[in-house]
Amino acid sequence: MSNKILILGATGNVGAPLVKALIAKGEKVKAASRAGKPVDSAEGVVFSYTDSATFGPALEGVDRAYIMLASGNVDSIALLTPVLEAAYERKVKVVFQSALGVDADDSIPYRQVEIAIEKSGVPYVILRPNWFSDNFHTYWKAGIDHGQIAVPAGDGKSSFIDARDIAESAAAALTTNTFDGRAFNLTGPEALSYAEAAAIIARTIGKPVGYSAISDEAFIAMLTGVGVPADYAGFLASIFYPVREGWTAAVTTDVETLTGKAPRSVETYAKDHIAALNG
Ligand SMILES: NC(=O)c1ccc[n+]([C@@H]2O[C@H](COP(=O)([O-])OP(=O)(O)OC[C@H]3O[C@@H](n4cnc5c(N)ncnc54)[C@H](OP(=O)(O)O)[C@@H]3O)[C@@H](O)[C@H]2O)c1
Repeated sequence: MSNKILILGATGNVGAPLVKALIAKGEKVKAASRAGKPVDSAEGVVFSYTDSATFGPALEGVDRAYIMLASGNVDSIALLTPVLEAAYERKVKVVFQSALGVDADDSIPYRQVEIAIEKSGVPYVILRPNWFSDNFHTYWKAGIDHGQIAVPAGDGKSSFIDARDIAESAAAALTTNTFDGRAFNLTGPEALSYAEAAAIIARTIGKPVGYSAISDEAFIAMLTGVGVPADYAGFLASIFYPVREGWTAAVTTDVETLTGKAPRSVETYAKDHIAALNG
């Protein structure tokens, strides 16, 4: 009998709280990562986007899967299509972690992945999260340590979302068929500029943190200087264009539709991650 849920990226920002949320709902979970480590009480399974030999064992006994692309990868179509096709073959329901705004143009690679899922014939839910609040203790942590977050966001605002709200939205999409066949734009409760978010973080951790709006070129040089591959640095710079244009400022009620709860604010995120932001 197939009644397990496969979670890709199960030790990651969204995957880890998603595994926890599903276990709390009494679901049987397979936690996939390259290392294949168990997560909480979920069984661990080895998975790599580029090793099709890992797909069969990962999908064994599974009727639903959370498909996402780990950070640091650019070629979403090439990396996601093989595992998605393996899921379609087994008639596995797919909940796909996409990104806010990709439906602006059908030529955007993530949108092409969404279109393929929509045409696949399996039940699906598409989740399009906005910029994660959690980036402040991951990508932008070095800036916080130096008292200055430096990104090419201009004065643009974003309705930052807490990864726990993405995870709880995903848990809802995976455990009911109410939302099948739909796409959800997941945002936090309010749009903030990077200067406003930096001020909240500064207040919470009790250290000065400012914001400096830098050019794409300076941003790419900063990232490649600390070892980020040039293609990924260029990709990250390119996705700040919609921020500068104000397109990431939209606030939706989709988290509440899925979870029944309002999403967490950046203030709540910062309070709950004070050790990671300060460490
Ligand atoms: N950050 C944002 O603001 C934002 C906003 C919107 C959308 N997104 C999208 O969200 C995704 C990232 O989500 P996330 O932050 O939750 O992911 P994440 O934390 O970067 O994912 C890391 C997880 O993926 C696994 N992993 C890494 N490389 C892998 C590989 N080659 N094969 C298999 N597993 C691998 C890791 O375990 P191992 O290391 O053991 O393999 C770990 O479990 C990206 O696709 C991004 O486009 C992000």
